[in-house]
Amino acid sequence: MIQARKKRVAVLISGRGSNMQALVEAARAPDYPAEIALVVSNRPEAPGLAWAKAQGLATLALNHKLYESREHFEGQLQSVLELSRIDLVALAGFLRLMTAPFVERWQGRMINIHPSLLPAFKGLHTHEQALAAGVRISGCTVHFVTPEMDGGPIIAQAAVPVLPDDTPETLADRVLAAEHKLYPTALARVARDQAAWTGDVVSVQLVENAGVNQEQALFSPWPPRAGY
Ligand code: GRF
Repeated sequence: MIQARKKRVAVLISGRGSNMQALVEAARAPDYPAEIALVVSNRPEAPGLAWAKAQGLATLALNHKLYESREHFEGQLQSVLELSRIDLVALAGFLRLMTAPFVERWQGRMINIHPSLLPAFKGLHTHEQALAAGVRISGCTVHFVTPEMDGGPIIAQAAVPVLPDDTPETLADRVLAAEHKLYPTALARVARDQAAWTGDVVSVQLVENAGVNQEQALFSPWPPRAGY
């Protein structure tokens, strides 16, 4: 079978970069439909950038503080993405709001991961928000990026339980483990055109052995014994 050309992906980070690492590791598989062609950080000191460099990946520190405006910063970013012939952009803990014109330019080709079951708990301090709301189930979402922060069409989600003595940190750890599985599968889906931007919703083309694990429902809390 002839393999389609791998999509060239730029991952944008600002810090630790554990989701970027999950994407890099997944992309090492020969049949993964995307390659991580570039890692960009707006913070030169981001630990994730050092990790990517040590892996021999193409990296770039684009310090936003050195640009007089958001537009100038994005102009430089756009040039770099074009020079690197980037097909898809994956935001992974990229803590910089983008202007509508930049986002619209990448519409359907830029995705993000957020540590909640969107549309709940947008923005920062997600796990604090989830605990304050008393939800019993939380999770993570991969979505296409639109000018509305954390508001774009949903591509994939994973759910985890919230446990009675969770702190924002313990919940974050449980969600992060799910993020590291979800993001590579969601990116692969987009790279294979199995999830495509259609405007307000995402059309997800199902293939054999794909779909959802419909047999499993997550209950939280779960009854301590059989019955009710
Ligand atoms: C993740 O929880 C991600 O969902 C959110 O920011 C965090 C980044 O972590 N957008 P890392 O840099 O990928 O380790």
